[in-house]
Amino acid sequence: MVYAATPLEKPLNIQTLQAMKKRGEKFVTVALYDAPMAAMAEKSGVEVVLVGDSLGMTVLGYTSTVPVTMDHMIYHIEAVHRGNKKSLIIGDLPFMTYANPEQAMANAARAMQAGAHMIKIEGGEWLAPTVKLLVERGIPVCGHLGLTPQSVYKFGGFRVQGRDAAQAKSILESAKILEQAGVAMMVLECIPSELAVQITQQVKVPTIGIGAGRETDAQVLVINDILGLTEQPPKFAKNFLSEAKDIPGAMRKYVQDVKDGIFPGDDNIFC
Ligand code: KIV
Repeated sequence: MVYAATPLEKPLNIQTLQAMKKRGEKFVTVALYDAPMAAMAEKSGVEVVLVGDSLGMTVLGYTSTVPVTMDHMIYHIEAVHRGNKKSLIIGDLPFMTYANPEQAMANAARAMQAGAHMIKIEGGEWLAPTVKLLVERGIPVCGHLGLTPQSVYKFGGFRVQGRDAAQAKSILESAKILEQAGVAMMVLECIPSELAVQITQQVKVPTIGIGAGRETDAQVLVINDILGLTEQPPKFAKNFLSEAKDIPGAMRKYVQDVKDGIFPGDDNIFC
């Protein structure tokens, strides 16, 4: 049956999203940065909006997310919060704003007071004490594994991660450690779909994939990619505006295609 994207009826929370995972029902995430797009997401039934530090590249014109500051994030989290009262809002902590647990707590508090309902941080095992501290203090945390763009210079580019067995094992172990530490969900970026399947089956919290195949509990795409604004779009992206008559139609089409299991298609998947 084809899903029809309809406005969210009530505010989403972590428990609803975790229950959706249990029922095998996919949820939809969009990374976006301003009030009108945030309002459109609510009207299109987008359960989670991510104010991603990708805004450094998509809005501010940098070539990576490294220059993004906490002040940039606060400005955009506030705008998204003003535009959307029902989706769950995740705010990214940018590069070097969570290098130790105390620094993470101070910056996460700023993001929450600006309107985020959860913060996202990139990394594996080393983040376990930070996740524990934040969760203990009442701040929900989303993990981020695989291609973690703040480490682009360590990776030598925006490259698929987890292709060799040792790296795949380490990403899977990190997922379990983050779950144990208390993350409420985790983003899996640019990893082979087989690895994403293993992680999704072995952790109880929802996984949100981007370039991680079709089997994650949710998908996330950046609004610029949905609207065909990216000059050289990554393989995992799709321009939904080319199949719709206007911008709201493109967002609804993305929602429908994720819910119906049509997106990501074979062309958008890494093996
Ligand atoms: O910053 C961002 O938008 C992200 C997504 C691409 C997952 O982290």
